[in-house]
Amino acid sequence: MYIINKLHIILTASFFSTALTFSSTVYSGETIEVWKSPTCGCCEKWVSHLKENGFSVVTHNTQNMQSIKDDFGVPKKLRSCHTAKIGKYVIEGHVPATDINELLKMNPTDVKVLSAPGMPAGSPGMEMGNRFDPYPTVTYNTNKEFNLFNYHSK
Ligand code: CU
Ligand code: CU
Repeated sequence: MYIINKLHIILTASFFSTALTFSSTVYSGETIEVWKSPTCGCCEKWVSHLKENGFSVVTHNTQNMQSIKDDFGVPKKLRSCHTAKIGKYVIEGHVPATDINELLKMNPTDVKVLSAPGMPAGSPGMEMGNRFDPYPTVTYNTNKEFNLFNYHSK
């Protein structure tokens, strides 16, 4: 009886740890394509941030970032340095991996772009010692609307 109970506990525990592993890795691990200028240091750091969070990343170096953003439909006021694509979404700028995972999990049909506009100090790839400027992440959708996605204050 003791052995059976113990086995039950082990099986239950391994079931839960498997479930947890699944929920944290099922969305990252997808390939994200990143377009960036060959000389952009913060872009490289953002790519490292994605890799550290389980994404497989393919990078393309280009001098024509503005035409990439035009082609991908990134509105002017959401623009940053690099532009990326994962599944049906465009990711613009220093968006944290957690936000990308959240977007993929929600899987909205109307969202086209998720952006961290500008170059916020303290965002992934924009580490500057202790400096942290709170910043929003914003979506742009098929109705040409802008919506707050997250607000990063720490
Ligand atoms: Cu940057
Ligand atoms: Cu960049």
